[in-house]
Amino acid sequence: MYATTSAWLDRETRSEVTTMSANKLALILVVGLLINLVARTAGDDGHQFVYSGFAGSSFLLDGAASVTGSGLLELTNGTLRLKGHAIYRTPLRLRGRSFSSSFVFGILSAYPDVSANGIALFVAPTTNLSGAMAAQYIGLLNSSNNGNATNHVFAVELDTMQNNEFRDLSDNHVGIDVNSLVSVNSTDAGYYPDDGNGEFRNLTLISHEAMQVWVDYEGGTGRINVTLAPLNLKTGSRPARPLLSVVHDLSAVIPDTAYIGFSSSTGLVSSRHYILGWSFAVGGPAPAIDVARLPKLPRDFQKPRSKAMEVILPIATAALVLLTGTALVLLRRRQLRYSELREDWEVEFGPHRFSYKDLFRATEGFKNKNLLGVGGFGKVYRGALPASKCQIAVKRVSHSSKQGMKEFVAEIVSIGRMQHPNLVQLLGYCRRKGELLLVYEYMSNGSLDKYLHPQPQDGDKQNGATLNWAHRLGIIKGIASGLIYLHEEWEKVVVHRDIKASNVLLDAGMNGRLGDFGLAMLYDHTADPETSHVVGTIGYLAPEIGRTSKATILTDVFAFGIFVLEVICGKKPIMQDSKDDQLMLADWVVGHWSRGSLVEAVDTRLQGEYDDDEACVVLKVGLLCSHPFPEARPAMRQVLQYLNGDMPVPELVPAHLSLQMLAFMQNEGFDSYIMSYPSSVESVNSFTSLVQQR
Ligand SMILES: Nc1ncnc2c1ncn2[C@@H]1O[C@H](COP(=O)(O)OP(=O)(O)O)[C@@H](O)[C@H]1O
Ligand SMILES: *[C@@H]1O[C@H](CO)[C@@H](O)[C@H](O)[C@H]1NC(C)=O
Ligand SMILES: *[C@@H]1O[C@H](CO)[C@@H](O)[C@H](O)[C@H]1NC(C)=O
Repeated sequence: MYATTSAWLDRETRSEVTTMSANKLALILVVGLLINLVARTAGDDGHQFVYSGFAGSSFLLDGAASVTGSGLLELTNGTLRLKGHAIYRTPLRLRGRSFSSSFVFGILSAYPDVSANGIALFVAPTTNLSGAMAAQYIGLLNSSNNGNATNHVFAVELDTMQNNEFRDLSDNHVGIDVNSLVSVNSTDAGYYPDDGNGEFRNLTLISHEAMQVWVDYEGGTGRINVTLAPLNLKTGSRPARPLLSVVHDLSAVIPDTAYIGFSSSTGLVSSRHYILGWSFAVGGPAPAIDVARLPKLPRDFQKPRSKAMEVILPIATAALVLLTGTALVLLRRRQLRYSELREDWEVEFGPHRFSYKDLFRATEGFKNKNLLGVGGFGKVYRGALPASKCQIAVKRVSHSSKQGMKEFVAEIVSIGRMQHPNLVQLLGYCRRKGELLLVYEYMSNGSLDKYLHPQPQDGDKQNGATLNWAHRLGIIKGIASGLIYLHEEWEKVVVHRDIKASNVLLDAGMNGRLGDFGLAMLYDHTADPETSHVVGTIGYLAPEIGRTSKATILTDVFAFGIFVLEVICGKKPIMQDSKDDQLMLADWVVGHWSRGSLVEAVDTRLQGEYDDDEACVVLKVGLLCSHPFPEARPAMRQVLQYLNGDMPVPELVPAHLSLQMLAFMQNEGFDSYIMSYPSSVESVNSFTSLVQQR
């Protein structure tokens, strides 16, 4: 008899089978003998196994059940409404016998306080549980066979759902089931610890913590004991007092050959049910599970992907990546688009500093339709500040200067502080990489040269006739007083260097306003000092600039004189004579004067609508200012007095003003000043061509 028992000793269980010591074996044999003496049944006494982890095991697995790489027996994998079974392959003869089983389990749920549905250790007549249902049936039975005595199913359930149809007492209970999911007896999960006063302690089945269960059936008495305890790494952790203890004779329930295994199911809550270790014995206590060798439960519950998610997730991810990418690109572009240079020292200039974003918006992104014109320093755009709706003109000046930037900006700010009714107010600036933006008041009537020298595209509205004598005289006087401010009234002497009709802008009241003032100073900072640049415009350059390359207030007066002649005559500073040769406007006026026909130099488009005497005074002032000898030129304050009639214009001999006269004097060796004149100024033509080459 014992020999057959030995033969039954499971050979499948490999190294996991506890190799029993001789003493233990003897004890078990004695116990087995005693039990058998009572039960008087031939069979499987001594059949036992122990698994401390399931790597290499060969259970019958179905449904969602599998053995994981780490050796966990995974009964359910998180997919909803699935069942999973793991059944010990060998049929057992258990009827009427004592048997004992222990296992370590762990339940992981997607949610901290709800899980579905549970685990059951079962004994059943078959390995085919395909007819069983998932969810609350825990993969054991189905709705039609539940409760039938023909089921021959005994189970211990670890139920994590409260089902009223089965009269479940809670969603965290342990139950003893016989042919039915309505338990014979059940109680809330917990244990009675051996230490202290042995008071009941709750356990939460779905706590994600491993716990151990012992199920013992005493064949003789029909007592079923179920004990639960938290997994304790110390041996002998089984509490002495079982959680459940009932007498229920299973001899009519358990068939002659039975299978033992686990069943588990999921319902509407994504959960995973794991068995970490399992032991079993017929006719004696289940061997101890080597707790130290058990595989570890996964730390977290990885939520399974639903079918929909498998489709949506990659799309959503791609969309997100695309969106983030686009957003980053847009952000970067926006950053670049509005990027500007700003340094600490600029704080003190704060009020003068404009944000590039505001300027960008004001000019609608520097659209061509807002282009007012292109000047010597760069393009000028019209705009309206977003906040104040204040009309502005933005001049984009390219610059590469890095050093001396502070002085540069300080200069701009000082220019910004200059305020005069005949200056175009500089409102502020903005600095970007390689670029400087200067913000000016907007002059609604544009630049004066459009009226004096209308181009076909300027339209017939802007022709000389619209600019009457009063306008012209007013503009000349205005520019004169603006220059007085720059030369004499401002805290330091400011030389404009580029007075000309195109730099005179007209505001809504047709007042002349001098623009671009101070820019020459800026130019000095940016230009290479080695190749000091002559700033100014051909035709307005005083002759001594060719020699000294130096702009002074008297070179400004010269340019102003040319400007006066230009406004009164309506002709460009360098004109074409009848032989298509270049002729200086000043010489042309001097020519009229020497012939006694000075008034004839006045713009014919005025159609005589002016005072002759007044016209002659203004023309003479123009000639005086553009005198070849700087010493002969009046100061701007005097100029205004002449124009206002407060002082008579000094009498001049027209011949003295002629460049031809200059050339004559040079040829005769008259004047040391003229002798030092750089090149062979022999004629008006050669002089003008000299100037033009610059
Ligand atoms: N503040 C302003 N208001 C209106 N238009 C302006 C203003 N500043 C410049 N402009 C226009 O832009 C053109 C170019 O200006 P600017 O750079 O000063 O010319 P330049 O360098 O030839 O003197 C001018 O002819 C004028 O029509
Ligand atoms: C779980 O097991 C079922 C049945 O084998 C399978 O269809 C499903 O894809 C598995 N789910 C996961 C998340 O592995
Ligand atoms: C100058 O501008 C004002 C206002 O913008 C306008 O009323 C006036 O007609 C303009 N003058 C000329 C000559 O265009």
